Amino acid sequence: MPAFRRLSDTDVRGQRVFIRADLNVPQDDAGRVTDDTRIRASIPAIRDALDRGAAVMVTSHLGRPTEGAFKPADSLEPVAQRMAGLLGRTVPLVRDWVDGGAWLAALRPGQVVLLENCRVNKGEKKDDESLARRMAALCDVYVNDAFGTAHRAEATTHGLARFAKVACAGPLMAAELDALGRALAHPKRPLVAIVAGSKVSTKLSILESLVRKVDTLIVGGGIANTFVLAAGGRIGRSLAEPDLIGAARSILDSNPGKVPVPVDAVVAKAFAADAPARLTAIEDIEEDDMILDIGPTSVAVLKTVIAKAGTIVWNGPVGVFEFDAFAAGTRAIAEAIGASPAFSIAGGGDTIAAIHKFGVESKIGYISTAGGAFLEFLEGRTLPAVAALEARG
Ligand code: 3PG
Repeated sequence: MPAFRRLSDTDVRGQRVFIRADLNVPQDDAGRVTDDTRIRASIPAIRDALDRGAAVMVTSHLGRPTEGAFKPADSLEPVAQRMAGLLGRTVPLVRDWVDGGAWLAALRPGQVVLLENCRVNKGEKKDDESLARRMAALCDVYVNDAFGTAHRAEATTHGLARFAKVACAGPLMAAELDALGRALAHPKRPLVAIVAGSKVSTKLSILESLVRKVDTLIVGGGIANTFVLAAGGRIGRSLAEPDLIGAARSILDSNPGKVPVPVDAVVAKAFAADAPARLTAIEDIEEDDMILDIGPTSVAVLKTVIAKAGTIVWNGPVGVFEFDAFAAGTRAIAEAIGASPAFSIAGGGDTIAAIHKFGVESKIGYISTAGGAFLEFLEGRTLPAVAALEARG
């Protein structure tokens, strides 16, 4: 259990409360929010502070804008509209807010404003001390509720925690850390991790660290393809990283029986929703085949592992589930996790999209709002934003 102060234990009546949320939501080409999970997850902290009579300012990054060069596409305006709908009140958006001014003077207890994309401020990404001090001067209480950004040491996630008069964790931050800590610190065994995605390279250190902790490590997607190659199998022209075959082989060799490798697959000649799908054993994969899903024999092996698990950690779909012809493997995994008595925890944008597509939300023990931070936590890394809160006690 992290040793930091929590918003719930902090008196905020009449105080100016600065909440750093993670409102980095996906948007369509017109800027509309396509998944509001993170906005909804930010509401309890905001509502709690408002209900207890705080004057509330909330900020977040959105995307990766150029500092000092605000563009309309960087704006949190669509987020402000959605937040207003969820809170049932207007949420004014403040553009140039770092040094306070009229907007701050006008902010009364029981009111909330959204402060425009904090990553547009010069010095945010580099955790600039003077920027953090200026922002700290805006508030009496700083609340970090942005677990999704806890792996970034930036001015609003890290520096502010050092310089604000009071620094505490919001309820989402606390809940995420509690759930992930529960899954990994003293997991009910067997502990099963599913790590899938396109590249081994982005997740190699996670795989290496997780394989030591878990009883079974299920790999999927392009990652599994590299493991198939390492095990001497065929993948045709599927996505893989030949230069990491050695790393994959060493994971397999040093953990015999822990990392099941697919034995069959659903393949196609093209990466397209309407490409004809063919089921094949791994050894019969043709030169021009692309693996787009795991096959039913592989699914059956994984279902048995999942059914017996005590704890399951899931990041990444095992196939191209967006295309119906290649969705069966991910659907089966999602449903097996949902049906398993294990405590399950899932995180990452694609994983959450799969959970929604297959309607298993209510059957997953805990769904994290984080992607990168979730993975870094699983890897056992110190999250700078959490460390900064802990440093304040
Ligand atoms: C995320 O979406 O994983 C977080 O909001 C962090 O975003 P970033 O990778 O741009 O720092």
